This record gives sequence, structure tokens and C-alpha cells, in this order.
Amino acid sequence: MFQLDGKIALVTGAAKGLGAASAIALAKQGAAVVVTDKPGESLDATIERVRATGSRVLGVELDVRDALQRAGAVRRAIEAFGTVDILVNNAGINRPASGLDVTEDLWNEHFETNLKGGFFLGQLIAPLMIERQWGRMIWISSQSGLIGIPGQPVYCATKGAVIQAVRTLGLEWAKHGITVNSVAPTFVETHMTSRRLKDPTFLSFVLGKIPVGRLATPEEIAAAVVFLASREAAMVNCHTLSVDGGWTAW
Ligand SMILES: NC(=O)c1ccc[n+]([C@@H]2O[C@H](COP(=O)([O-])OP(=O)(O)OC[C@H]3O[C@@H](n4cnc5c(N)ncnc54)[C@H](O)[C@@H]3O)[C@@H](O)[C@H]2O)c1
Repeated sequence: MFQLDGKIALVTGAAKGLGAASAIALAKQGAAVVVTDKPGESLDATIERVRATGSRVLGVELDVRDALQRAGAVRRAIEAFGTVDILVNNAGINRPASGLDVTEDLWNEHFETNLKGGFFLGQLIAPLMIERQWGRMIWISSQSGLIGIPGQPVYCATKGAVIQAVRTLGLEWAKHGITVNSVAPTFVETHMTSRRLKDPTFLSFVLGKIPVGRLATPEEIAAAVVFLASREAAMVNCHTLSVDGGWTAW
């Protein structure tokens, strides 16, 4: 089960964190992987780890906010591997600012990175999937799209919007054999969260909310991505799969 031999995946924000873990996990299942991240972020470590799985890999610079880079990345993927079967919209930012402190620049940067970039990348890749009548689009949303977290209203709003985009695109594209889903993680220690999680008060707030009693690991998020990418998940569509140890059941 969950074999991805012959499939081509493209992962955004794959230099580190959950994107790197997802790229490696997809490659372990046999997918060829296009690993992308914004210019200046080294993809070398991810490429090396993907290559070690025996799967084919291509690294491409892609700032998801940039329309030309989105088109260029898809073109490079097609040149190298012929198509894209699996898109993992993982690139994201979270710069906490409370409601009174949010600026329009911060608002725009979050929406462009967390929502708009992945949306229009999906719009470029969907026709490739429609042609083949098979595709998997997987977004990394967040538990923050399902609940509020004080201090990050903009981030939460972007992730709630991702969950709604997933629902609706999944409805539109199901007839073409494409499923659109998201994975909603609780806190995972990555570059994005490590500074906040070093604060003992914040860490104990977080752990107090997770019934399982610990943070999630990147590999646990990547396993959910692999499941949603698989042939076996064909009936899972428009869904947000929480990987949160139970936080959002409260
Ligand atoms: N870590 C967590 O606790 C957590 C929880 C829930 C959801 N998420 C989501 O998971 C995803 C990955 O987060 P992470 O924790 O691995 O963070 P991370 O900061 O470790 O990695 C994010 C990656 O995205 C890239 N990125 C940022 N802006 C980009 C842009 N404009 N274009 C292309 N790439 C860009 C960064 O360069 C980085 O490599 C994000 O969407 C995040 O919101 C993370």
C-alpha cells in the first residue's frame, strides 16, 4: 500500500521542516520529486536525502509569490519528468502579531505566501492532472485554520482560507480524478516554531492543549501527506486531516 512508483511530486518550501520531510517520505514510496524553495534557501540537504532513497530528484528555485517563478518551476518539472502528479503546497510563513499590531504588509505577505502562491501554482498544475485524469493536491494547512490562537490572527485566517480553498477545488476537480486535501498539523518543532517553543510558558500552554502530551514530528506530518498522495486515498477528497494529537477535539 501507499506505493508511489511512477508518480511525480512537486513540493514547495522543501529546503527544511515539513516540506523536506514530505519530499523525503514521498521519495521513499518511489515518487520522483521536484524539491523547490525560494531563492537563497539551499536545497542541497533535501536533494541529498531524497537521492539517498534511490528516487529521482530535481531542485528548482521557486518563490511561490512570484508568477514567473511558478511558471518556470512547472516548466522545469515537465522538462525533467514529463508532468506533475502530486503537488504539495507546503511553503508558509508565520510571523505572530496581535490584532492591534498587524500591518498591511504583514497581512499581504502572509496571504501571498500561505494562500495565493499555492492557489495559482495549483491552477498551473491542474491542467496537467486533468490531461492524465489523475492528481493529488495536498496543502499543509494547520490546526490554526480550525481554531484561533491569540497573537496570530493573520496566520489563522490564511490557514482557514486554505481549508476552504481545498474544499472547493476538490469539488471542482473530483470529476477529473483529482483529489484536493490538506493536512492540519499541531505544533512541530521546526525553524518556524523553535524560537517560540523554547519559551517554557508557551511550551507548557501548547503541551497542555495536546491530549497525546507531546509535539508532532515532521515524519508524522509527512506520513499523512503520503497517505493523501496515494492511490488508496482516492475516496478522500475536500478533507482536512488533523494530525494534532487531539488538540482540535476540545
Ligand atoms: N511547524 C509547525 O508547528 C506547523 C504547524 C502547522 C502548520 N505548519 C505549516 O507547515 C508548513 C511548513 O512549515 P515548517 O514548520 O516546515 O516551517 P519552516 O519555516 O521550517 O519551513 C518553511 C519553508 O517554506 C519556505 N518558504 C517561505 N516563504 C516561501 C515562499 N514565498 N516561497 C517558497 N518557499 C517559501 C521557507 O524558505 C522554508 O524552507 C507551513 O505552511 C506552515 O504554516 C507548520
